[in-house]
Amino acid sequence: MFVTLEQTDVAELHQFRDPVTGLRALIAIHSTRLGPALGGCRFLPYPDEATAEIDACRLARGMSLKAAMAGLPLGGGKAVIMEPDKPYDRAALFRSFGRAVESLGGRYITAMDAGTEMSDLDQVARQTRHVRGSSADGMDPSPFTALGVYTALQVASERQLHRQDLKGLHVAIQGLGHVGRRLAMMLAWAGARLTVSDLDEARGMALAERLKATFVPPERIMQVPCDVFMPCALGGILNADSIPRLDTRLIVGAANNQLASLEDAHHLQDRHILYTPDYVNNAGGLIALTLHHQQLGNETVRRKVKGIGRTLRHLLNDAERLRVSPAIMADRMAEQRLHDARERAA
Ligand code: NAI
Repeated sequence: MFVTLEQTDVAELHQFRDPVTGLRALIAIHSTRLGPALGGCRFLPYPDEATAEIDACRLARGMSLKAAMAGLPLGGGKAVIMEPDKPYDRAALFRSFGRAVESLGGRYITAMDAGTEMSDLDQVARQTRHVRGSSADGMDPSPFTALGVYTALQVASERQLHRQDLKGLHVAIQGLGHVGRRLAMMLAWAGARLTVSDLDEARGMALAERLKATFVPPERIMQVPCDVFMPCALGGILNADSIPRLDTRLIVGAANNQLASLEDAHHLQDRHILYTPDYVNNAGGLIALTLHHQQLGNETVRRKVKGIGRTLRHLLNDAERLRVSPAIMADRMAEQRLHDARERAA
């Protein structure tokens, strides 16, 4: 019962079930040492409960590390809702989830994530104020996430590919949702050559046509020979099976938990592929949600999000100096910050 919590160092895992709406949700709180646990809510057709539990716990830990690395006064949490396999009323289901969030009294604050839309958060907001990114604040974090990932790409491509700009760079993007689609547009604007993919082939092909990009089916995107591979779909895709087949020199993406395990960071290093840690790249949305809530204007928020570039530069320098992978270096730095916060609180 406690295995996943122990493996991910998660402090609390709350289960919610509402037989009326069909809600089956988990809220994992990794830590509230630095502040309330803010993290998005996923809404996906999970194959089983164990997968949902692991997803919630791993993602919650990632949120703690992300907030700590970005220097934000937040803890880490995450919610997953298992999409019902029977017909359901989506609005009622999200209102039911809102009541679950409310019951935690503000220790967990929810937001958008894979499979959820602002309209879902509007339903959540009818039941609780512990939500960011509903129409009430009008804050869509995705453009800021994309901006942060783009900034990380600029820093990493300068280091790994010795490129001052992105013109002509061949970039393969996996996933054209809220973040991937924006990144594709920014990269097309910068003159990059794009190969893209999405499970929704019709939508992906339409975007590819607009951007003069090449569309490939989902099963091919990870083998495309390219300068940069950008994972912007789901986690666990960098694993023992996929890493030997990659044909790239750099991985910079938005997806959470891209590495199936920390061991895979070594495998990427062995192949001389630079991997920039997901939770460093993709902190832009979290930074924006936090600063926007503090009433800071868009320009300040954009400047802070671009600070991800500086964080990444420091991280890559330290990783090189200590001869460890950037993924391990990031975990060490973030965990040290959480440890220091615990010591201060003791
Ligand atoms: P989304 O749900 O809008 O988009 C994901 C896209 O990936 C969908 O279009 C889906 O069809 C596609 N996809 C799924 N599996 C695929 C596969 N095997 N091959 C190709 N395409 C596939 O999600 P969103 O918001 O764009 O987020 C993407 C990732 O970034 C997620 O892992 C999310 O947790 C992470 N993230 C998102 C943030 C945000 O501000 N939206 C913030 C931080 C992280």
